Amino acid sequence: MRAIDDYIASFDEDLGYLNWAAFGPISPAARAALVADAELLATGRPEGIAATAGRTTEAQTAVAALLGSAPDEVTVHPSSTHALQQALTGLDGVVIASAAEFPSVTITLERAAAASGGRLAPRWIAPAGTRVTADAVIDALDPDVTALVVSHVDFRSGYRADLAALREALGKDRLLIVDAVQSFGVVDEDWAVADVVVGHGYKWLRSGRGTGFARFTDRARERIRPVLSGRIATAVEGLPADVLPDPALSAQAYAVSAPDPLAASRLAAGVAEIGAVGVRAVEDRLSGNVDVLLGIADRHGIDVASPREPAERAGIVVLAPADPQRVGDVLAAAGCQVTVRSGTVRVAPHAGTTAETLGLFDAALDDARQFTRS
Ligand SMILES: Cc1ncc(COP(=O)(O)O)c(C=O)c1O
Repeated sequence: MRAIDDYIASFDEDLGYLNWAAFGPISPAARAALVADAELLATGRPEGIAATAGRTTEAQTAVAALLGSAPDEVTVHPSSTHALQQALTGLDGVVIASAAEFPSVTITLERAAAASGGRLAPRWIAPAGTRVTADAVIDALDPDVTALVVSHVDFRSGYRADLAALREALGKDRLLIVDAVQSFGVVDEDWAVADVVVGHGYKWLRSGRGTGFARFTDRARERIRPVLSGRIATAVEGLPADVLPDPALSAQAYAVSAPDPLAASRLAAGVAEIGAVGVRAVEDRLSGNVDVLLGIADRHGIDVASPREPAERAGIVVLAPADPQRVGDVLAAAGCQVTVRSGTVRVAPHAGTTAETLGLFDAALDDARQFTRS
């Protein structure tokens, strides 16, 4: 069997699951890694504890391989919001962000500014359709702007930002900080254009919670003070007791305390299976499923609010039926899991979503026909 077929065959979530943008049911590989390491940690034997000690490095190496970066530029965190805190609290100047971003961006930036003693200020923008385009950023630029923080794929509209265009709009001296939660592992991107990339493993990587990560380039390390840097983030070997060393000079400065090996092993397993198949192959299968969903929406005459162009989308399809709540109720009764929010129905398949699940969704929309059109 081809690697991509093995990967697709590993999806064993319930029939009707179309909510990958909210939570990714944990893959068999990540479950197996968790159980194996929990067993190793169950006895207290030094060799068991030592055997799990390398999981963080394995996760960093796997994430770095997909990012095209060095493993020591990658740090692991309890969540992507923790990783964003590391980036945003260390910034100076004016930072552009859309006011409609996921709260991991908006609230974290607001709190960082409040704690900065006037060093840092957000510049909120409200681009049309919550699409952070290069033009929207150029309109907000002035010499005070030091950085842009942006979701690669917007959680609400499904819009995939053009990172290369944003990089060009910012110029080389400003930082591009990217929340890749809704794209990492399922969009084949050139991450080198970003100075900081954060993500997590509990959606598209199928690794469960506790699996945040970040990549800080050398340029980011020069510009972002490691304000929240903790005890494992110094150059000192072993426990830095009775000394107060500076943060490490590498990206490892943006770490706090010893990571959870059970989270790191799940993350390593989830990322490694995508690495073995290739992100492009995963993206192609996912894109095929998105096309099927768009066809289903069109057949039912339901407005689609998310982008249709493959370059402007990832795995999120946003439907705007006449009565989203009633449509959501019918879908739930039929066993389809989606997110109903902000007057829309967000549907998110993965590469391994089956024809049966897409068929169930199609049939449920038949049942919801009185609520789909105005
Ligand atoms: C774009 C985006 N960023 C961040 C998050 C939250 O991530 P975490 O729970 O790792 O902080 C989400 C969760 O849905 C999200 O969609």
